[in-house]
Amino acid sequence: MTADWGGGYVTDIEYTTGYFPSQSPQMLALACLINGIAVDPPWEAEHLHYLELGCGRGVNACVVAAANPGWQVTGIDFMPGAIADARRLATEAGLDNITFLEADLSVFAESAEAAALPMADIATAHGVWSWVGDPVRAGIVRLLATRLRAGGIFHVSYNALPAQQALLAIQRMLREAGRRLAGRSDRQAGAGRDVVKALAEAGAHHFASTAIARDLIARLDDMPVPYLAHEYMNEHWRPCYHADVATALSAARLDYAGSARLVDNFVELVLTPEQRAIHDRFDDPLMRELVIDTCINRTLRHDVLVRGARRLANADRDAILARARIVLAVDPESFHYALKMPAGEATVGEGYRARVAALAEGPRTLAELAPLGGTRANFGEMAMVLVGTQQAHVVRDTTAGPSPRQHRFNAALARRDVRLDNLNAPTVLACLRAGTGQPSRTAEALLVAHIGAAGAMPDPMILAADLLPGEGQTQREELASLLARVVRERLAVWQRLGFV
Ligand SMILES: C[S@@+](CC[C@H](N)C(=O)[O-])C[C@H]1O[C@@H](n2cnc3c(N)ncnc32)[C@H](O)[C@@H]1O
Repeated sequence: MTADWGGGYVTDIEYTTGYFPSQSPQMLALACLINGIAVDPPWEAEHLHYLELGCGRGVNACVVAAANPGWQVTGIDFMPGAIADARRLATEAGLDNITFLEADLSVFAESAEAAALPMADIATAHGVWSWVGDPVRAGIVRLLATRLRAGGIFHVSYNALPAQQALLAIQRMLREAGRRLAGRSDRQAGAGRDVVKALAEAGAHHFASTAIARDLIARLDDMPVPYLAHEYMNEHWRPCYHADVATALSAARLDYAGSARLVDNFVELVLTPEQRAIHDRFDDPLMRELVIDTCINRTLRHDVLVRGARRLANADRDAILARARIVLAVDPESFHYALKMPAGEATVGEGYRARVAALAEGPRTLAELAPLGGTRANFGEMAMVLVGTQQAHVVRDTTAGPSPRQHRFNAALARRDVRLDNLNAPTVLACLRAGTGQPSRTAEALLVAHIGAAGAMPDPMILAADLLPGEGQTQREELASLLARVVRERLAVWQRLGFV
C-alpha cells in the first residue's frame, strides 16, 4: 500500500508525458481576440510569466521556456517523481528561465513560495480540474485570485458534461473492479479495463447504449496503463458542466473568454441553423455554452478565461490580428482545407489556397494574406483556419534561426523521447521563431537533433549505420529510407520554422 498523501489522486505510478498545443500562449490569446476580448498578444511580449499548474513531467513548461528566452516559466506539481523528471529535462537543456516547484495546490496559495511568485500573465491547468478533489480546485481558485495579474489569461481543460455522462458508468466500473482485483494503480487500471471489456462483450446495456461509450471501449487497449490509471483511477474523477467550472472560477474574478480549440468559437460552424436559433435566444454566456455542449459531442473542454475581461472595439481587435505574422508549419500540398466539426467536416473557402501558396514562400501578416482570398477579410477566421488547425504559427521572432538554445533543448528531449522502435510516436520541438512548440514525430525530432549537432544534413545511410551498429544491411537500409523520406517531406518546413 502507498501512503495516502495524494488526496485521492493516483500517486504510486508516473504519468505519461505529452505536449498539448491548447496550452500554447498564442492559442490562448487568439481564443480571446477572436471573441473580442482584450489581451496583450504574447507574440509581441518580451517579458511574460507563464505558470503551469499540475505540470506533470514538465514537457509543456520546458517548451514554453525554451522557445521564449525572455520569459519566466513556473511549473507546479505535487508528484516528486514528476518534478524531478521535469527539473532533469530543464537542466539538460540548460534552461535558466524555468522553475519547478513541488507543491500541493490545495494549500499552496497560502505559502511563502506562492507569495514570492511573480504575478502570472498566463496560467494553465491541463488535465487537472476534473481529476482532483474539491480542496485542490478551491486552492487553484485562491492561487489565481492572488497570483494571476488583472487582465491575465487562465486556461483550464476538463472532462465535460453532458458528453461524458456516457463514460461515468465505465469509469466507475473500471475503478471499482480494478481496486478489488489488483494492488498498484497501473495494475488496477489494467484489471478494471479487462472487466469493462468483458462486460461490454457480454452485452452490458450501459456500455453499448451510446456511440461515445462504444468508442472509448474500443480504444481502451490502445491506451497505456499509466495513462488509464491517471485518467480513471482517481477517487475524485468528476466530469463537470461548464457553468459549474465558470462559477467556481468567478470567485477569482475570472470571466469566460472562449475556447482554446479555436474552431469552437465559431458558433455558425459548430451548430446547425436550428440549434443556433435556440442558442441565440439567450444572452447569458453560461446558457449559450450549455446549449452548445448539449448539441455537440465535446468530451474535453478547453476554456480560456481572463481576470477582468474587457471588450475590444472591432477595429482595435483587427489591428492586433492584422499585424500578426504567420509561418506555415506543414507542407502546402498536404494542408487540410477541411475543418473537423462535431457534425462532420466543413471545407474552408477556395481563397485559402492562395493564402497557403503565399505562406509557402515565407511568413506573411494576416493583413497581407487577407486580400489574397478574394472574399471579405476576417482576421479571426484566418487565425482559426491557419493556427487553430495547428498548420501554422504566429511568428514571435522573425530573426530566430537555428541556435544553440533551440538545439540543446530539442536534443535533450529527443534523448528522452526517441527510441528506434517508436519513430512514429508523437513528441514536440521547441521553435524559437514561433515562440511555441511544433508537434512532431520522433523520427523528425531525431533528425532535427542530429542536424543541430552536426551543423549539416546527414547522409541517411551513414546515420542509419551509426544508429544500428550491430544490425544487418536490410535493417539499415529500411531505417535509411525512412529517414530520407522524413527529410524529403519536412525539410522545407524545418527551414521555414528555423530548425535548419
Ligand atoms: C492527469 S495529470 C495531467 C498532467 C499534465 N498537465 C498533462 O496534461 O500531461 C494531472 C496532474 O495533476 C497533478 N496533481 C494532482 N493533484 C495535485 C495537487 N493536489 N497538487 C499539485 N498537483 C496535483 C498530478 O500529479 C498530475 O501531474
